Amino acid sequence: MKSFPDGFLWGVSTSAYQIEGSVDADGRGPSIWDTYSHTPGTIDGGGTGDVACDHYRRWREDVDLLASLGLNAYRFSIAWPRLFPTGRGGREQRGFDHYDRLLDALLERGIEPVVTLYHWDLPQALEDEGGWRNRDTVEAFAEYGGACFDAYGDRVGWWLTINEPWIVGLLGYLHGLHAPGYSDDVLGEVTVFHHLLLAHGRAVQELRGRGQAGRIGLAPNLSPHYPASDDPADVEVTHASDGYVNRWFLDAVLRGSYPADMRARYEELLGPLEFVHEGDLAVIAEPTDYLGVNYYAPRVMQAVPGDTPWPWRVIVPEGVRTTGGFTDGVARTEAGTPIVPTALTDLLVRVRDDYGDIPILITENGAVFEEPLHDERRVHFIHDHLAALHEAIASGVPVVGYCHWSLMDNFEWKLGYAQRFGLVHVDYETLARTVKDSGRYYGRIAAANALVEP
Ligand code: FCB
Repeated sequence: MKSFPDGFLWGVSTSAYQIEGSVDADGRGPSIWDTYSHTPGTIDGGGTGDVACDHYRRWREDVDLLASLGLNAYRFSIAWPRLFPTGRGGREQRGFDHYDRLLDALLERGIEPVVTLYHWDLPQALEDEGGWRNRDTVEAFAEYGGACFDAYGDRVGWWLTINEPWIVGLLGYLHGLHAPGYSDDVLGEVTVFHHLLLAHGRAVQELRGRGQAGRIGLAPNLSPHYPASDDPADVEVTHASDGYVNRWFLDAVLRGSYPADMRARYEELLGPLEFVHEGDLAVIAEPTDYLGVNYYAPRVMQAVPGDTPWPWRVIVPEGVRTTGGFTDGVARTEAGTPIVPTALTDLLVRVRDDYGDIPILITENGAVFEEPLHDERRVHFIHDHLAALHEAIASGVPVVGYCHWSLMDNFEWKLGYAQRFGLVHVDYETLARTVKDSGRYYGRIAAANALVEP
């Protein structure tokens, strides 16, 4: 039997805008996601987060659900615009009280909170001043983070600063598919990457300055990269894209420098990166306690010479040659994402080899499958990814826990409500929650602290 280390965290992940609803309750201010989702044509099916899973009102029921699944960890995010409706100053106590109650309820049931400070719901008032392109937002975030540490630091053992900085830039500034919805703004994208990383570092400093015991880390989405063929051009863009997606963030946080090849690429496109100030990288590299890893899929790269801004494309392959072997006839989720569990082993071993023994918490991993309750494909997805995770642990990677995305079906950003990621089904008419087969299976794994067979 494949057992996991003692004290392993078995959790699920959610984020505030995707589940809470009650967007006007208790003084909450608007966020960029309210603005974006209410802009006609942005969200498939026209959904918004106005109601979502109604978790803001049903949180007690949801905590009971977590307990009934037998989980010992829960990753959620705090909605910045509930605590500071206009981003800074003007503290809203009712917002603080909400997360206070949630934390207490989790701890009463022996569930370890893993708390994300920023899962994309920037207060709209800050966006009106330039949002993440404006360096001042970094300090607003540090103040917000500090207020969270003051209010909750006695109970939170695991903090995450920023969720998926690469996706924020890529979809929000390059492709216009996420809030705030800009397109083709490469300068905006990389400026935002930098400010998000700086915000991460400033939050770490705020926590350390308070002498609190909680651990803190970043939650990037990492994709292992493979070339589409042995063609040297494909191999070259594989390394380059790895710099874009992975190394830009990992090198900055764990080595205190941006990778020279990527920096040169950006400078070629944009000229000198003036938004990087002297001393910034030291702030970004303020030592952290662990690394959150969101893993969904590998990127298989093909060169497209001359394409701008990046001379490549990501293909959905027939097969992927990972270290764990050749995965032929790659299955896909209903979102079209290739399912390649052994790439997770490669990814984690690589992080350890290149960046050292930093403890890793899998902060997201999951898939879209439409079966409402008997979701056999999700059961197998979980089994195969946990086998891959176990393999990484057996190779000496210090993995401390796994949080599946997601506890329940929810507002999947641009994709609206059509795509379901939950271990628990949500009926969007009645908002009733029903545990899927995958939820029960995952609960058995958590209870055994071992990979039981489906
Ligand atoms: C990640 C996000 C998360 C969720 C999953 C499916 O990119 O962090 O909020 O949408 O994808």
